[in-house]
Amino acid sequence: MADRSLTQTEVSLNPASSDMVEITIDGIELSVPKGENIIESARRAGIDIPYFCYHPRLSKGDAANCRMCLVETASKMPDGTVRKMPKPQTACTLPASPGLIVSTNTEQVFKDRRGILEFLLINHPLDCPVCDRGGECPLQNNTIFYGASATRYTEEKRHYPKAYPLSTHVVFDSERCIQCARCTRFSEDISGDAQLALLKRGADAHIGTFAHTEYNSKFSGNVIELCPVGALTSRSYRFKARPWDLQTQSSVCSRCSNGCNIKLDYRMDSVVRVNARLNEDVNEEWTCDKGKFGHDYISSSDRLTTPMVRAGSTFEPISWGQAYQLLVAQLKKAGGHSGAIGGGRCTNEDNYMLQKLFREQLKSTHLDSRCLPASAAAGDALYDRMGFRSMGSSIAELEDKRSVFVIGTALEDEQPIIFLRIRKAWRFKNAKIVYANSQIAQDSVSVADFASPVIKYNAGCELHVLRGLLLALLAGNPDLASKLPASIATSASSWSLEESASAAGIDAGCLKDAAAALGSGPAAIIAGTAVQLSPNYGEAIDVMTGILAVLGSPDDLNIPVAECNSLGAVHMGVHPDYMPGNVKAAHRGLNTEAMLRGAVNGDIAALWLVGCDIAAHWVDKDLVSRALDACPFVVVSELTMTETAKRAHLVLPAASMAEKDGCYTNCEGRVQRLHRAFAPVGSSKPDWLIFAEVAALLGAEGGPVSAREITCTIASDVPNYSGMLPAALGNAGLLRPEKYAVSE
Ligand code: SF4
Ligand code: SF4
Ligand code: FES
Repeated sequence: MADRSLTQTEVSLNPASSDMVEITIDGIELSVPKGENIIESARRAGIDIPYFCYHPRLSKGDAANCRMCLVETASKMPDGTVRKMPKPQTACTLPASPGLIVSTNTEQVFKDRRGILEFLLINHPLDCPVCDRGGECPLQNNTIFYGASATRYTEEKRHYPKAYPLSTHVVFDSERCIQCARCTRFSEDISGDAQLALLKRGADAHIGTFAHTEYNSKFSGNVIELCPVGALTSRSYRFKARPWDLQTQSSVCSRCSNGCNIKLDYRMDSVVRVNARLNEDVNEEWTCDKGKFGHDYISSSDRLTTPMVRAGSTFEPISWGQAYQLLVAQLKKAGGHSGAIGGGRCTNEDNYMLQKLFREQLKSTHLDSRCLPASAAAGDALYDRMGFRSMGSSIAELEDKRSVFVIGTALEDEQPIIFLRIRKAWRFKNAKIVYANSQIAQDSVSVADFASPVIKYNAGCELHVLRGLLLALLAGNPDLASKLPASIATSASSWSLEESASAAGIDAGCLKDAAAALGSGPAAIIAGTAVQLSPNYGEAIDVMTGILAVLGSPDDLNIPVAECNSLGAVHMGVHPDYMPGNVKAAHRGLNTEAMLRGAVNGDIAALWLVGCDIAAHWVDKDLVSRALDACPFVVVSELTMTETAKRAHLVLPAASMAEKDGCYTNCEGRVQRLHRAFAPVGSSKPDWLIFAEVAALLGAEGGPVSAREITCTIASDVPNYSGMLPAALGNAGLLRPEKYAVSE
């Protein structure tokens, strides 16, 4: 992998001022922002300064230690003379200042670079032929461009254990380390777990975890990409491929709703690794470990490759023709008593075709994509109040809030990239973070590490915490009560701060501290699963709306959905009450729970479960079991034989996200494209194609021939998605500033 930092990003943690200064680099006169780093200024003139330790998103604290970026400098004096600096300077820490003259191509600079590389290579093993970094290694590249052709070092090199397993994901080869401190700075600056450190000093200096404990960061995969040599490598990618064997496809992570932009590196129709793809508005250039290492399911040997039909207690493979014959006969028989559950992991195109098949061919509105306990409970309470969105702030906007209140979530697990954004807001922009949860993680990074105060309340008492916080905010300034919506103002007059605190098992003082920390200025609330599962979820949303009204940020309520396309599935009309574009349906259908009950009591005669392992995840497992037993026909579209698939009459093999085109809508409402990398495994098919083919067999005319065609149909026919054509979506996706409105 080529070093990505400078080619992918324009940002710097030490932003230059808006004043411009005149400088000269290699005789080229430039006007650049005052204070801008010279590596970045040189790039404006197309001049490449080699580097290892520099990274624009990492602080410079322990940096400027590789010395690869040395340049010669001079200053233009007011009298017109030029004064040369006696020693070379590191371009990565040298700020642009008026009259600065930089030379990157003198004999001295080339000599300096040769010397630096000679030092770096003294102890670096000759591992290139067996190193995973070979072919995409800045040390290889810089040595070829700037290094000497032979070494003068004939002594024995240092030896350390090879391939030391730092964690389940990361292997460390200390001999290859050039001590650039990128990994340690990531650990300190970005992920916040601070588990990696430069231990010992001098010749003994090496990277490690304190006391050699396991490196158990939730963001550990990023250090593999940041390491400019092959010192930190991936255990799962190790020896699987060489960069020149790989093909790469742009995609979007399917493991949560944050929608991180990723690159799928694949070889012979098998994904061998996932790297981050830059999107400043979403993941910047990071991924969490779920996203980086959690796509092995795509190329798993457990994938279903052919339709399977139940034969007693086992399944038999059948052809698509036989599968469709059975399916169409059963759907025809069930007609309006057919129901579909799922879609949160499918693309918008899949979901659009699913609802079209049900609404138009089967005349059924029994459709629901909310099949996780939290999403099912959350749906109506959230959408009734906020319109069809789950976040009032965009992910990028969160980093500019002055204060953020996080409640009822282990954010680092539920919404990892949102976690990194608010940590960034705290670390680099001085935001105040307040955290309330019934469980505070002790053994891993958590919002509690940087929040103040941290409020640990009794499980299930989110509403009391929220009421108490609202009262504490009002206690400081009763005039603020006028900003409250009338219904909350009336209710609030009957609550007491002390009683709310006592009911939540906390001290009223910490609510007052929280109110003081949240203060004034742009604020946001992020609420998680515990709030969604609260029996008082609807009222909790009302109180959070009141808190934000008092804080002057009425729109910044964020309750991110769970699955990669939970929001898109609802937007596409996989919802019992709404058609595509959030248009109210003339006839209400059954929701997930009602469909399960309907299957038990005979109202649902055919149930299609689409990418939804309801037997494993639904909270009322007994109801699911009775529904799957009682329903006359259950068809499951899946990638593998899940718990639910094992209970079906017919199982259809679906293509994975790497095997189809389409779009996901992430938790903030950004519509982003994924692209097919390789052909579907076996005879599996994209879900949209299965729905289109079944619709055709039921009499539909003129079905689509590609996912792209459906994207275009959505762009022309679905309110709120109008104009979202492939070209408009581009590489970064599209987040409409206006919210997803509901129409009658
Ligand atoms: Fe730099 Fe890699 Fe060594 Fe970390 S392990 S200090 S990133 S060379
Ligand atoms: Fe994937 Fe979510 Fe992790 Fe991003 S934060 S890499 S979308 S699982
Ligand atoms: Fe400047 Fe390392 S890049 S010292």
